[in-house]
Amino acid sequence: MRRRLGPAALVIAGGLALAGCGGPDSGASGSASGTAELSVKSAYMPQPVSDEMAAGFFTVTNKGGAADELTSVTSDIAGQVTVHQTAGGAMREVRSLKVPAHGELVLKSGGNHLMFEQLKRKPKEGQTVSVELHFADSAPVEVEMPVKPATYNPQTGH
Ligand code: CU
Repeated sequence: MRRRLGPAALVIAGGLALAGCGGPDSGASGSASGTAELSVKSAYMPQPVSDEMAAGFFTVTNKGGAADELTSVTSDIAGQVTVHQTAGGAMREVRSLKVPAHGELVLKSGGNHLMFEQLKRKPKEGQTVSVELHFADSAPVEVEMPVKPATYNPQTGH
């Protein structure tokens, strides 16, 4: 009995440790352990009312044990894509947005959002817009952003 129990218990413990920290070389100190594991969901662009600007929203989920940062965004339909924060009804451009470890970065109407400027074409409802998200540590993530009705987003002001 003991001979069979011992090794089995060790294997189980090892598996749990791997799943918990996301890598075999993670330190026990906690700082900078693991890596970010990012995925993007709920992406959409409200059909823009302007010929020159559009907004975009999505959620980045991080299942990993390390934080990351959204640092820049590119898209084939826009000359420039910037990352904005909304605070107290006013929006301002920010250099980056943090994606917390085991957490989420949410871009939504009335909060953080993307601004597409210098539009090369005006996105229409039913189309998709290709966007590439760049992060401080993780590899870039390609997102197909569906274009929703303008009214899908209550905040159509900009
Ligand atoms: Cu904005």
